[in-house]
Amino acid sequence: MPELEECSGYKYLQETAYCRETIQSCKRPAIAEVDTFKKYPAAEKIQLPRTWELDEARITPLLQERRSLRRFLMEPLTMEELAFMLWSSQGITAKAGNYSFRTAPSGGALYPVETYLSANLVEDLDPGLYHFDVEGFALDRISDRDSAESVAAACMNQRFMAQSAVTFLWTAVYRRCMSKYGNRGMRYLLIDSGHICQNLLLAAEATGCGGCPVAAFYDDEVNTLLQLDSKEETIIYSAAVGKKVQQPSRCTL
Ligand SMILES: Cc1cc2nc3c(=O)[nH]c(=O)nc-3n(C[C@H](O)[C@H](O)[C@H](O)COP(=O)(O)O)c2cc1C
Repeated sequence: MPELEECSGYKYLQETAYCRETIQSCKRPAIAEVDTFKKYPAAEKIQLPRTWELDEARITPLLQERRSLRRFLMEPLTMEELAFMLWSSQGITAKAGNYSFRTAPSGGALYPVETYLSANLVEDLDPGLYHFDVEGFALDRISDRDSAESVAAACMNQRFMAQSAVTFLWTAVYRRCMSKYGNRGMRYLLIDSGHICQNLLLAAEATGCGGCPVAAFYDDEVNTLLQLDSKEETIIYSAAVGKKVQQPSRCTL
């Protein structure tokens, strides 16, 4: 098994990191575009029903209503709402032997993704940076400095991130997954973070909140804010969450 630095997956993540100094010289790749929808014009088409009355379909309105939200009410989240979102995204739901299974699936049940929070507007929680202790279902305070602006700056100055009630920051602990799967493990930890984020966005929707996933950030700046040893653990994904501004949707079906 190669050491981390020798894995092409590891090198790939390092090589595709955004850096403030070099971002302007990043060029669009010279790769031709393709259509968004794949068509099979010659194939027989079987129309699907557009409505359903299944008991299992309680999730339908959450899926229907979820849209990336980039404007938030300046209203705090309650601790219950935050706890629900954390549980929905990474809470432990079952135990078997040495395994603690969670709400979101994970390749090999290895759970290489860690959750950090930039808490900005949460009742009974001082603004600052926190780490989610999954086993203890608790938050570890890692900095009591107001982090909203520095997180937004590290996320390529996306202003809406400074107005979130809370921003979730997901990191990958490479070895947790790659010590078993080597290079292929890089796929799994990225896939895992997608599951986690979607669970969070649906939980946000269920609590009158909304969020926007964000993958455009200066990797080294976020890692520094989170005081990470970036050789071992790095930011891979994030989401800004806040109370929904009730506005007529511009999207129709
Ligand atoms: C991997 C990924 C990265 C994203 N990064 C950003 C981002 O940095 N900034 C942003 O405003 N939106 C970001 N988005 C949100 C997309 O723009 C959004 O999902 C897309 O426009 C579709 O809209 P919807 O989420 O409302 O369905 C990201 C989404 C994904 C899945």
